[in-house]
Amino acid sequence: MTGAPLIVLVGPMGVGKSTVGQLLAERLGTGYRDTDEDIVTAQGRAIADIFVDEGEAAFRALEKEAVRSALAGHDGVLALGGGAILDPDTRALLAGQRVVYLSMDVEEAVRRTGLNAARPLLAVNPRKQWRELMEARRHLYEEVATVVVATDGRTPEEVTQAALDAV
Ligand code: S3P
Repeated sequence: MTGAPLIVLVGPMGVGKSTVGQLLAERLGTGYRDTDEDIVTAQGRAIADIFVDEGEAAFRALEKEAVRSALAGHDGVLALGGGAILDPDTRALLAGQRVVYLSMDVEEAVRRTGLNAARPLLAVNPRKQWRELMEARRHLYEEVATVVVATDGRTPEEVTQAALDAV
């Protein structure tokens, strides 16, 4: 897969994409990249500020271009933001890639991220919003994934090993 990432990580916010992505990159001896970080660097602003100032649609457009350019210019482990799969063009970019979906159930999600107001989509009622978020997104993660790795009750090291075993 010349010019393509070895592994793309998708899954909800807080599932551990960055932690597992960095562990995977270490184990594989490759680089790690994260489209959220690329957007923050390119825009010089926090993601929450982009959401507040310009709205989610504008963020998704930036995200699509960040995914496109990361897929073209990176050959390690690439983590996408939790909502990147909402955009059909972004999903299409993932065709033919090795995509690992890190999954977690709603209670685990609330426990890990529910009180983190820095995540703009979860500020009001975390449990209800998580349930709606996952109902809207689960099938999209499954659509792009070539491998699903459940993270519930597992340490990042265990998840990393499970991902390595599965790809
Ligand atoms: C989002 C997830 C975030 C970030 C943005 C929107 C989402 O990324 O892209 O806040 O819609 O789920 P992480 O999954 O890396 O937290």
